[in-house]
Amino acid sequence: MSSCLLLTADCCLLSPPRRSIHTVPKTELLGKIERREAVVSVVGLGYVGLPLAVEFAKEGYTVIGVDVAEDKVNLLNAGQSYIPDISSDELAKLVKSGKLSATIDFSALEKADAISICVPTPLGKSKDPDMSYVIAAAEQVAAYAHKGMLIVLESTTYPGTTDELVMPRLAKNGFVVGEDVFICFSPERIDPGNPTYHVRNTPKVIGGITPACVEVALALYSKAIDQVVPVSSTRAAEMVKLLENTFRLVNIGLVNEMAVMCDKLDVNVWEVIDAASTKPFGFMTFYPGPGLGGHCIPIDPLYLSWKLKALNYNAKFIELASAINSDMPLYVIDKVIDALNEERKSVKGSKILIMGVAYKRDINDIRESPALDVIRLLQERGADVSYNDPYIPDLAHEGLAMKSVDLSVDAVQASDCIVIVTDHTIYDYAMVGANARIIVDSRNAMKKVQSPTATVVLL
Ligand SMILES: NC(=O)c1ccc[n+]([C@@H]2O[C@H](COP(=O)([O-])OP(=O)(O)OC[C@H]3O[C@@H](n4cnc5c(N)ncnc54)[C@H](O)[C@@H]3O)[C@@H](O)[C@H]2O)c1
Repeated sequence: MSSCLLLTADCCLLSPPRRSIHTVPKTELLGKIERREAVVSVVGLGYVGLPLAVEFAKEGYTVIGVDVAEDKVNLLNAGQSYIPDISSDELAKLVKSGKLSATIDFSALEKADAISICVPTPLGKSKDPDMSYVIAAAEQVAAYAHKGMLIVLESTTYPGTTDELVMPRLAKNGFVVGEDVFICFSPERIDPGNPTYHVRNTPKVIGGITPACVEVALALYSKAIDQVVPVSSTRAAEMVKLLENTFRLVNIGLVNEMAVMCDKLDVNVWEVIDAASTKPFGFMTFYPGPGLGGHCIPIDPLYLSWKLKALNYNAKFIELASAINSDMPLYVIDKVIDALNEERKSVKGSKILIMGVAYKRDINDIRESPALDVIRLLQERGADVSYNDPYIPDLAHEGLAMKSVDLSVDAVQASDCIVIVTDHTIYDYAMVGANARIIVDSRNAMKKVQSPTATVVLL
């Protein structure tokens, strides 16, 4: 708590208070929240920020989204959604009603009573946390902060970010946190493409710098979210998200290693997992795959291990699981090489069609997608690689520039090998099974196809 001079149950003094303690800003803010008069701003209108902004607007709050990306701001203001989980119809209605708008002008934050920060937290080139987006957003917020404002950081990050990076930047005008301004961390748990769980019915954990901070955030978020879960500090809330994502990273690493071990033992890992899943207690199902993808699981645990390194501690599970998961694209390539070898073919010169390049099924996000590695590794070996993804018409990433081809009977028949990297629901797996020669199926997507004529190779 380096920059905090004093932390009591009620308030955290960022600098000596300029006036006597009173509770007016909190009472006023709670009143505005209750009467739906609070203006909510969401900074960063991506996969996390846009659904959150929509949820607050649906609850009757006036929501102003702020983003540095002009294209997103223009689309939003035109009522056009750029995120599959949000329909343009729903967005257009909210925009038309005046409840939701967006801007690139940060001075709009001046009007806000509550601000949720949902900016990216990627890794830098050296795989360390890149906090530049959070710092930039916190500085913009600080420039327009006023008494009676709630600020909630939602970006996934290491424990200590809210009190070490965000709070000091709000130390403007001698604001007293917990009295003048209210600062919280609330991890976003959104699961893009999940048909069951969305913003409203996914419980939301909230930790504040002081109890008053949590009280205000709970009042607001409980209007838009069915269940809110308070924890004792921003650090605890930051750690909750990292536990959740590290849990997934480690279990996926375990099951990926199971796949490798089962292969060596000539056992079908998918059959083993399905049978193990019948145990009604003490087992949770995870499946192997071509490697980790997305903005969260491959990245967030590294935020934790980075922070722990500074405290002279090695996060061993995270390192081991990351290493196993990073090897999976290469494992898929080995499967392709072996399958082609059986047909007396080399990878070099073979036509290989990748099905699915999004990092998971039914979404349009390629961040950290293992497909990028699979394509690169195949191209490095001289394969003639094409891809199909109904959600990703163009693939432009670090030197890759490809266009999705039609998944037609002709295209499948013309391929020496099909590699299923992402098992999108709308794919016609029966057609692929009836027309392909070899299918390397990294997701067990062909399981429902009865007697495919193709040779199907599983992980
Ligand atoms: N995508 C997910 O499934 C998911 C789930 C849970 C948590 N998260 C976390 O939520 C955070 C946001 O992720 P996302 O997927 O929404 O990212 P995103 O890239 O889809 O959206 C981030 C948005 O922030 C904008 N932005 C960047 N800098 C800005 C600034 N200084 N001011 C205003 N806007 C700025 C970008 O233009 C972009 O529109 C990350 O920390 C991520 O780890 C993501």
